[in-house]
This record gives sequence, structure tokens and C-alpha cells, in this order.
Amino acid sequence: MKNIRMVINANDKTGHINRELYGHFSEHLGRCIYNGIYVGEDSPIPNIHGIRKDIIEAFKAIELPVLRWPGGCFADEYHWKNGIGDKSKRAKMVNTNWGGVTEDNSFGTHEFMELCELIGCEPYIAGNVGSGTVRELSEWVEYMTFDGVSPMADLRRENGREQPWKLKYLGIGNENWGCGGNMTPDYYVSVYKQYATFCKNFGGNRLYKIACGPSGDDYNWTEVLMKNLRVNYCWQADGISLHFYCVPEWSNKGKATEFTDEDYYTVLSTAARIDTMITRHSQIMDRYDPEGNVALIVDEWGTWFDVEEGTNPGFLYQQNTMRDAIVAALSMNIFNRHCGRVKMANIAQVCNVLQAIVLTEGEKLVKTPTYHIFDMFKGHMEGDCVYCWSDNEQVGGKALSMISSSASVKEGVLTLTAANLSLEEDAEISCELCGFEGKTVTARILTGEVHAHNTFDEPENVTIKPLEAEIKDGKVTFRLPACSAATVEVR
Ligand code: AHR
Repeated sequence: MKNIRMVINANDKTGHINRELYGHFSEHLGRCIYNGIYVGEDSPIPNIHGIRKDIIEAFKAIELPVLRWPGGCFADEYHWKNGIGDKSKRAKMVNTNWGGVTEDNSFGTHEFMELCELIGCEPYIAGNVGSGTVRELSEWVEYMTFDGVSPMADLRRENGREQPWKLKYLGIGNENWGCGGNMTPDYYVSVYKQYATFCKNFGGNRLYKIACGPSGDDYNWTEVLMKNLRVNYCWQADGISLHFYCVPEWSNKGKATEFTDEDYYTVLSTAARIDTMITRHSQIMDRYDPEGNVALIVDEWGTWFDVEEGTNPGFLYQQNTMRDAIVAALSMNIFNRHCGRVKMANIAQVCNVLQAIVLTEGEKLVKTPTYHIFDMFKGHMEGDCVYCWSDNEQVGGKALSMISSSASVKEGVLTLTAANLSLEEDAEISCELCGFEGKTVTARILTGEVHAHNTFDEPENVTIKPLEAEIKDGKVTFRLPACSAATVEVR
């Protein structure tokens, strides 16, 4: 047992936590959309216009704030006009990135926008730069957001949608340093500006344009973008993306449910690297943009293991254990601490792909341990992040701290999220509160053996439980068992 001292100073506000920091990503990949979120109107599984009802409820319960779509690599080969109008007449295509399967385009713009409306989240559209045209993307924006008379707005009406949708988040390309065209940063930034110029703000709609940013620690990409994204004192992008997957070795990713303690610590120390990456990208951004006009948008992050045995290797279907939950808690505490520059993050992916928050099989649905972390962190949404320090020590023989934490204040409630990364030792936490008069405390915890996961037969194996916590003389105390994450709310 380790005694851990923590200090929270509610007077020291370090930034605002946008709700979009707890965002998600859905791609036409494996069973994320088809046979996942979207089962079709004729399915015996309860659905609204083909969208699973249980998924809508699960996403609403965590107040899922923003959903990115249609990719990923798929975005740069997606032609949106194939996904509108009469479904029986929609053109089919090959999904070359993900298993070479036939894409029938039955889930398109109208279906995605309805999904977002049902969840109550912001849509985040990723536009095709790699194999598309400026005109194609500018027309997509017109189709979705123009309320007057125009060829695209009229086409939308013909397809049954009178009112335009509100669209804020628009990504211009995806991984254009890789699957999105293998471009150099100089070439991409010129192409980006051309696309961005022709994606217009119609009526009251204001686009928040996101340029394809770096992969992991490619600091040169950030440097070139920041140097070139300002034209006549005006930033041409509201954000640049960052993609980082927690994979220690791409040639040996390992299994999602079978791993040693050493593998666990290696994966966690890999996940923790995103802290340094965000710091260094932010330092570059600070030099060009000290006012913070351009945000860092971590629109793909999470674990990536070998696919489950017997599943299509192109479908990226993996199970999700307590290890994934700890990766999620660690990453989300890091995002909170960088909320001054990081304004959105989207875990990959929302359903049946990579570090999914829900898995489905026929009519069954399970919420993964990662889902429960999102549930426990939602109290931070739209809060002010505040100073939070803890005693620490390295675990697992790596540059990895035992305790990960962050705190925020919103409407008189102080929320602390903390994870114990150790597999060996419990932690007795004693947290001093400065600048906050707390009277009552409630806490919830997710813990279990590190390989524990939820299956279709045992969906409640890993679930959130109440946690005992006390407040006395301005100090909150509670125990974090090894391999656990908790949320503590003080009122
Ligand atoms: O999330 C899976 C893939 O990972 C995405 O399509 C791509 O952007 C990234 O390389």
C-alpha cells in the first residue's frame, strides 16, 4: 500500500475542457457502421431508420459530444454523391483500405446526420482530399448547409431534407502524409488552403476547419503547417489534427486479451508518450500562434492490437480489457491537462473497431471497460481544468507514473479523475483541497484483474461500482486499488 498525497488548487484554472475532448470516430471499416451502428430498416434488431436503438441509448448515456465520419483512410476515397438518394440506386464501390469489401453506400450523409441528431452530438465530417476535388467538397458543404436556392440545396430537398443541417466541424483530408495521398507537408498545406477557400460559410453556419496535422512525433509537419497556414494575418484553419495509436511495435501488436505484466506496462508507457508529443507540438504552435487561435485536435487515438481470432484482418475487431480502460483514463487525464491547446479528441473507434466503446453481435451489445471510463469522465465536460498535483513514483520499470490524475470545477462541483497504473500496489489517496469549500463527496470506481473484459455472455464483468470516499478538514480520502480508475465528485 502506498500513501499518496494530492493537492488540488481550484483557484488555479489552467484552461477550459471542451466537451469535444471526449469525442468519437466512426469509419466505414469492418463492422463499425454496417452490422454495427447501422443494421438497416428491415432488421429484427430494434432500430430507428436502420440505426440500432440500444446504440443510440448507450451513446446518449455518456453524452457523446461529437462523431467523426466517414473515415479515416476511407474518407479520402469516399464520394459523397454516391451516398444520397434512393438506396436501391446508389452506386457501389470497393472499400480498398478495409478488407476490399463492397460498400453499397446505404449509409450516407442523411443517415449520418440523422444518427447525430438521435445522439444529440455534433457531426464532424472528414472531406476527401486524396482522391476528390475542390468542387466535390465545396458542393458537399453547400448540400449540407445552404438554405437558399442552389443546385446542391435543391438536390438535398429532392432527397427529402428541407432544412439545412448545422455543420461545424469539417476535416480537410485525413492522414495526407499516408493513406490520404502520401503528400509532403509543403504540398499538402497548399492543397489544404485551396480546399479551405472554397468551403464556404452559408447563412448562419460557421465551419470550424481542421487541417490534417502530424502523425505522432512528426514535429516537422506541424512546423511547416503553422508556418504556412496564416494568410494576410488570417488563420486558414481552426485546428490541426494529431493521430497517435498506442502500439509499441507495429510488427508485433499482440493480443487484446492475452498479455504479460510487462506487455501491460509497455503499452501504458507507449500511451503516456502522447503527453510529450502534445507538449512539443504545442510549443511549435505557441511560437506561431501565441494567442491560441489554432487548436490541436487529436482526432484518432487509442490501442491497436491483433484482430480477434477468426475475424477478418481488414476489420480491426479487438476485445477491450481493464488494460484499455487504464489507457483511456491515462490519455484523457493528459488531454484535460492540455485543454488550453487540445480542443477535441476522438477515440478510434466508436463501435466494433480498435478501442471500441461498444461491441455488438447480432442483437447483443456490450459496453466495454473503455465505455465506462467515458462515463466516469463526463463530469469534466465544459469544466475549468484546475491545478492538480500528486506524489508519484515510477512503476513497471518504465518512465511511467503510478498515479494519473486531473481535476476540474463546474457549477460548484469539483471533479477529480484518478487512475492507479500499478498492477501490484494499492494507493491510499489523501487529497488537500485549496480554494474549494467541499461538504459532501461521492465517488465511483472501475477496477478488476487487468485481463478482465465484458463478453456477450458476461456483459457486466467489468462495471462501475460505488467507491467509499470521505471529506474532513478540507481533505478527501479514498483508496485506489491496483489497476483501477475512479471519479470523485465534491460538492
Ligand atoms: O482507425 C483506423 C485507421 O487508422 C484510419 O482509417 C486511419 O486514419 C488510421 O491510419
